[in-house]
Amino acid sequence: MNSYVIFLFHVISIAVNINQNSMDFFLDTAEVDVIKDLSETGLVDGITTNPSLVAKSGQDFFSVLEKISRIIDGPISAEVTAIDTEGMINEGLKLSKIAKNIVVKLPLTLEGLKACVFLVNKKIRTNVTLCFSANQALLAAKSGATYVSPFIGRLDDIGENGLDLISNIKSIYSNYIALNTKILVASVRSLDHIAKSAIIGADTVTLPPKVFLEMYDHELTKKGLDAFLKDWAETKQSIL
Ligand code: G3P
Repeated sequence: MNSYVIFLFHVISIAVNINQNSMDFFLDTAEVDVIKDLSETGLVDGITTNPSLVAKSGQDFFSVLEKISRIIDGPISAEVTAIDTEGMINEGLKLSKIAKNIVVKLPLTLEGLKACVFLVNKKIRTNVTLCFSANQALLAAKSGATYVSPFIGRLDDIGENGLDLISNIKSIYSNYIALNTKILVASVRSLDHIAKSAIIGADTVTLPPKVFLEMYDHELTKKGLDAFLKDWAETKQSIL
């Protein structure tokens, strides 16, 4: 490889690393009312659901997905529950027909990866979930998944560092121009998880509504605003 080709390769690599417009915020919930409320902020880019979240909502899966798709234009992850490839494919095909923005969520098993390859060939978007290692993330990307969901909180729970996994996946994906899978940071438990994921350059975080609502809050913002308003009142002026 001559030096010009190497230089061009580096320029392209840098461009690929900074081609994101922003970090996307998804809500990790199947609670339709909560989604409706928080979507009014204009800051919700998509939704992720899983069988546990659907069970917690106490609602019918299909009706929940239809309702969410009437509120949210961005990607909505709907997870299959079959464990064999054929079953996952059939469920995925059915789920993908609910709305054009449904993303079929598949577990990171051999069967799930095979189903992913099949659905990707049918131009259906996929989210490969329950990712706990860099090698798994590499396989998800090789399978053409639109998203990979590394569960960082659950890694922290067992004494590992979930954010290290995000960093490793980011490095791996940045090394190969053909790996276009987006990193969707899941199992987010804290504000630190979000900020550090953004520092690493993860594409998306999916947030429990409680964590989403904690993001704007800071004691010094409240304190500063109180002081501004008190000083303003003393001027006896009005903007309107
Ligand atoms: O989408 C599911 C994922 O975010 C799980 O979160 O808190 O149950 O580990 P958690």
